[in-house]
Amino acid sequence: MSATREQFGSRLGFILAAAGSAVGIGNLVGFPVAAAKNGGGAFLFIYALFVLLVCLPVMMAELSVGRASQKDPLGAYRKLSDGSPLWPIAGWLVLITPYMIAVFYTVITIWLFGYLFEAVTGNLDQLANPDYFGAFINSNKVFVYFIAVAAIVNLILVGGVKDGIERGAKIMMPILFLMLIGLVIFVLTLDNAFAGVQYYLVPDFSKIDARVINSALSQAFFSLSLGMGIMITYGSYMSRSEKIASSAKFVALTDTAVAFSAGLLIMPAIFSFNPDINTAELSESSVGLIFTFLPKIFLALQTTIGYFGASAVASIFFLLVFFAAITSLVSITEVPVSSLVGEKGYSRPKALLVLTVSMGLLSAACILSFGRVEWLTGFVTYADQSKSLFDVVIDVFYDTILPLNGLLVCLFVIYRWKKLNFHKELACSDPDYSCSKLERYVDFSLSTFIPVILFLVFANTVALKYF
Ligand code: PFF
Repeated sequence: MSATREQFGSRLGFILAAAGSAVGIGNLVGFPVAAAKNGGGAFLFIYALFVLLVCLPVMMAELSVGRASQKDPLGAYRKLSDGSPLWPIAGWLVLITPYMIAVFYTVITIWLFGYLFEAVTGNLDQLANPDYFGAFINSNKVFVYFIAVAAIVNLILVGGVKDGIERGAKIMMPILFLMLIGLVIFVLTLDNAFAGVQYYLVPDFSKIDARVINSALSQAFFSLSLGMGIMITYGSYMSRSEKIASSAKFVALTDTAVAFSAGLLIMPAIFSFNPDINTAELSESSVGLIFTFLPKIFLALQTTIGYFGASAVASIFFLLVFFAAITSLVSITEVPVSSLVGEKGYSRPKALLVLTVSMGLLSAACILSFGRVEWLTGFVTYADQSKSLFDVVIDVFYDTILPLNGLLVCLFVIYRWKKLNFHKELACSDPDYSCSKLERYVDFSLSTFIPVILFLVFANTVALKYF
């Protein structure tokens, strides 16, 4: 007789926790950069279509698998596939993916923590120095911040679902929304901000090609935390009385609204800092933008709003991104935690200890792969490029395996677990409940074109990345 599974305490708690997972570095930095270099409003339009037409159905599928099975992803595939020897392999894949994504995401979260610390202590001139980032990521300070980040994640997760994850999200998410709104309003009052808004929103359809379409889908998929087992795990903590469709809609909407607002924050800030900006410069990576470009803007703000004002703006910005990163890191770490608890019978603290040590060692190896340890720095070569361990983890798990996991979950729900059970979970087969258009669409799309699209993204990524 197993103990009853922990649950989120309320619908709002679930939505905030799931939105906390979805809103992350991907929204606040990845999305604005992707939109800026890929046709502004045109990219936004395609992105929104993908969220609605592809990602929302996949999210509903993942939540349903979790809630129906009341298990972690591996347990869910095992239970709902009824003894199939093959489907648990998909479960393993969904377990390894969050484990490895957490490893690289931890590294970026550590950097954010370091920048937050420097911003709060008023060291903007240091952060704005173009050589600082390279030196910082290879300094020993990173390991100190590492301990702080691991401690925060553990502190939240040891509290469990309701008193840990949900409580953390209920505190951090409202503050995150307020900080975001405040910063957007502030940035829009800066000189020349409107040029940034224009650049961000005016559609340039000439930039749209197969590569951009592919990146819009990958961005949306990552942003909604799909293919990582998170929604399966959070679905397993969702109360039976909740309607999956309406909660998923809220999560997708919140996530997209935050991504959109982040563009309204970053683009005007960039244009007000440099009205003649060469937009090619914006094609820098998200990491470049956040850790080298934005600090220059914060420093320049000192001339208009003074030393304390500029430090406050920088601190709020880094706190915003840090909160977004921590709530995401919590959600992704919860996936292997729930597996160790569910499959191996570990207590939560023991699972956390095992994971903190093992993931910590891998994150440390990534930290050493920026030049400090040679074999980790030139870990492998493919497509004629030498890749560090950090790059490889991103290429393999973020770029390649995510769409594959998405594809497998669609096929699993429709063809193995079977539509009828999926309908029951969505409450569509309940005679007192009339199935909405969205639910009918989800059913149709998951069994037809969504697996095809996800397969194409997967195959395209493999062809482009590794050969
Ligand atoms: N939705 C998150 C983001 O946009 O950053 C994706 C994510 C990444 C969630 C890494 C969790 C995580 F650890």
